Amino acid sequence: MKKIMITGALGQIGTELVVKCRALYGNDNVLATDIREPEADSAIANGPFEILDVTDKTRMYELVESFKPDTFMHMAALLSATAEKNPLFAWDLNMGGLMNALEAAREFNLQFFTPSSIGAFGPSTPKVNTPQVTIQRPTSMYGVNKVAGELLCQYYFEKFNVDTRSVRFPGLISHIKEPGGGTTDYAVDIYFKAVREGRYASFIDKNTFMDMKYMEDAIDAIIQLMEADGVKLINRNAYNLSAMSIEPEMVKEAIQEYYPEFELDYEVDSVRQAIADSWPNSIDVSCARAEWGFNPQYDLNKMTKVMLEAIEDKEKVQS
Ligand code: SER
Repeated sequence: MKKIMITGALGQIGTELVVKCRALYGNDNVLATDIREPEADSAIANGPFEILDVTDKTRMYELVESFKPDTFMHMAALLSATAEKNPLFAWDLNMGGLMNALEAAREFNLQFFTPSSIGAFGPSTPKVNTPQVTIQRPTSMYGVNKVAGELLCQYYFEKFNVDTRSVRFPGLISHIKEPGGGTTDYAVDIYFKAVREGRYASFIDKNTFMDMKYMEDAIDAIIQLMEADGVKLINRNAYNLSAMSIEPEMVKEAIQEYYPEFELDYEVDSVRQAIADSWPNSIDVSCARAEWGFNPQYDLNKMTKVMLEAIEDKEKVQS
């Protein structure tokens, strides 16, 4: 991996992935693309950037031909709750974008990464310690997209020898870029509201366990997987990843260590709750550990400390 083109660069993952890849591989070796311009003061604007709608195959090919990457990281997608509001658009964007990106990888012989998700599981999947290989019958459009995406990536690997690699991300928690339209977003919102308002109303109910991971661990996992010896990657499309299985009351208690007055109550959103209820409580990450050394560094307490301190710093800068 030396020259990387990234789609969805202004999204929750893309924002931090671009910065990390530029630090590792050189500023000019990472082309960030998104459907909209970055803010002038954003870190993304410090290196190559091009506008790209991933459903526009011609434009995608033009950019690949001119930038000449050896690696393609396809991050542009609608998250679960947004996809549920507009399922046909989600299909067009999530699947159309992925097909264009896979075709580019095939034609230009690029190593390929795209994330799958815990959303690729459904109500008939074993809920606890969900195995790497198990039943995948999701009930959300996002989940349908993710399962189809995993299968397509594996198809391109087997049929066309494209070096496709993927992970099933859990909810990702970051203080840098807030997510938009995900079911797991409560676990990000709660930290911002704790610092700013001292209280939060969660749209996900108490006792709803979902897997989560701090963003730094997620970005490190992408880099580590892409650098791993391909011969060892038995489950390359896509690895279960998680660092913690948590529910809102656990996050509340972790926050109260620093903000004893913090209050949590609930305004449950039925659409996102139904999605959450259909996902696993905790997934088994042993294949990622065994095949490429996945080793997350942040548990709930360590992540809570870092999140609260970083958001406090942000507030100071803004005030
Ligand atoms: N964080 C995503 C979502 O909630 C799951 O992959 O949609």
